[in-house]
Amino acid sequence: MHSWVDGVVQSQVGLNNRGLAYGDGLFETIAVRGGQPLLLERHLQRLQWGCERLALVANPQQVREEVLAYAAAMGEGVLKLILTRGDSPRGYAADPEAPARRILQASSLPSYPAAHSAEGVRLYPCRTRLAEQPLLAGLKHLNRLEQVLARNEWQGGDYAEGLMCDTQGRVIEGVYSNLFLVRDAVLYTADVTRCGVAGTLRAELLQQAPTLGIPVKVCDLTLQDLGAADEAFVCNGVYGIWPVLGCDALRWSAGPVTRKLQTLACALLDL
Ligand SMILES: Cc1ncc(COP(=O)(O)O)c(C=O)c1O
Repeated sequence: MHSWVDGVVQSQVGLNNRGLAYGDGLFETIAVRGGQPLLLERHLQRLQWGCERLALVANPQQVREEVLAYAAAMGEGVLKLILTRGDSPRGYAADPEAPARRILQASSLPSYPAAHSAEGVRLYPCRTRLAEQPLLAGLKHLNRLEQVLARNEWQGGDYAEGLMCDTQGRVIEGVYSNLFLVRDAVLYTADVTRCGVAGTLRAELLQQAPTLGIPVKVCDLTLQDLGAADEAFVCNGVYGIWPVLGCDALRWSAGPVTRKLQTLACALLDL
């Protein structure tokens, strides 16, 4: 499936694109099945919130229509939507009225081992720390160097994900996932107002878990909290939920709360 740039088939953007020059933009990675973009409202909500935060000029209705049309043409796969602030001459100054450039790209759904969801995964304890930046926290902006550094700390198949802490040592998330802990039947996840990404599946779980009788708490989490957890899992809007079996010397098994939420995630993501 060919890429679209600003609604037309095109596979290139110019060298003056601010996404390339400064990471000046946002993206969403959306699972598509049966021609439908999944968790679409959550993705568009995060994008809209990012546009407001970065003062990116985009028409939400146009973005929605394009994503729907592209997903329908894709059928199945991962749809990557990138919004950049468009082109500009050298220099950080930007035209406040320049419309955002819309890039849509398709790729196939990743084929993770079935054991990741059936049994669970081990997390690599990343040395790369997440810096605090409340202005950008929660957004899926194009500056992802921390994740690039963290993901390249390990090779091979022993670890499916990494654990990332912030510079204060608080436990935040995975390299491409959010992290949840369960303790005494309460679901915990890190506050992402200083750093981290406000995941679409995270948002859905936070909203729906209480309706399944699972209380939720968003707060700062420490390595001690991780050690004291009864269950741990990572999640994102493409693969759903993977139970966490271990990180460093810590060990868990997939518990009942994780399994219950996995069922929910599978329904939401058509897995
Ligand atoms: C750093 C990071 N955190 C969290 C997530 C989870 O986000 P979502 O649930 O929207 O896929 C991702 C997804 O790629 C991510 O890259």
